[in-house]
Amino acid sequence: MSSHSGRFIVLEGPDRSGKSTQAALLVKALRGRGFPVVHTREPGGTGFAEAVRQVVLDPAHKVKPLAELLLYEAARAQHTEERLRPALADGAIVVCERYTLATLAYQGAGRGLPVALVKKLNRIATGGLRADATIVLDVPDRVFHKRQTAPADRLEAAGRAFRDRVRGGYRRFAKSEPRTRVVDATLSVDQVHAAIWERVAKVLPRARR
Ligand SMILES: Nc1ncnc2c1ncn2[C@@H]1O[C@H](COP(=O)(O)OP(=O)(O)OP(=O)(O)O)[C@@H](O)[C@H]1O
Ligand SMILES: [Mg+2]
Repeated sequence: MSSHSGRFIVLEGPDRSGKSTQAALLVKALRGRGFPVVHTREPGGTGFAEAVRQVVLDPAHKVKPLAELLLYEAARAQHTEERLRPALADGAIVVCERYTLATLAYQGAGRGLPVALVKKLNRIATGGLRADATIVLDVPDRVFHKRQTAPADRLEAAGRAFRDRVRGGYRRFAKSEPRTRVVDATLSVDQVHAAIWERVAKVLPRARR
């Protein structure tokens, strides 16, 4: 399946689609079955990458699309090498909120940067690491307003047209990316969890499945 002995699971989707909620449930289910689990997120997951996250999401800054893309990829390069690869080599199930598909959706479809450029930088930053399963939590824009959270970060504040392009990007790129499934995330928390589990169970190591 992959060169590493662990499994790399990525949860994707627009802002407030339920990634953190579902990641917590998935981690709990995996730990309950005895798997060693690492729960992480992008941008972030290491001290340096979390510092980049703060800068890149800070609404006080006006950031050019290319600078934004490079910051996400810098954080990804650090996270991939410092945290993801070692955990996977150790045999952990890594549950990561956002990875390369988010960059295609936000910086490609959302910001309008060339998709070929985003794909190239994704390849460079990941060094070729790919998820064993990517699950896209799909929600229409009304969910963004219904599920209010903390004060909006810089990308959440980007407006309706941007969010629509991001959602469209997720749905479109999900079709061409390998091992990627779209889940209807307007359903209840438990129903979404069940759909995610069905997909994840198929890629778990056999011993404990
Ligand atoms: N299936 C669901 N139905 C209704 N509300 C939900 C559902 N899933 C999550 N929520 C609620 O929606 C809000 C956003 O969820 P969550 O923080 O998990 O999303 P997220 O994708 O991680 O958001 P962000 O992109 O901002 O990190 C929370 O208040 C959460 O409790
Ligand atoms: Mg979240």
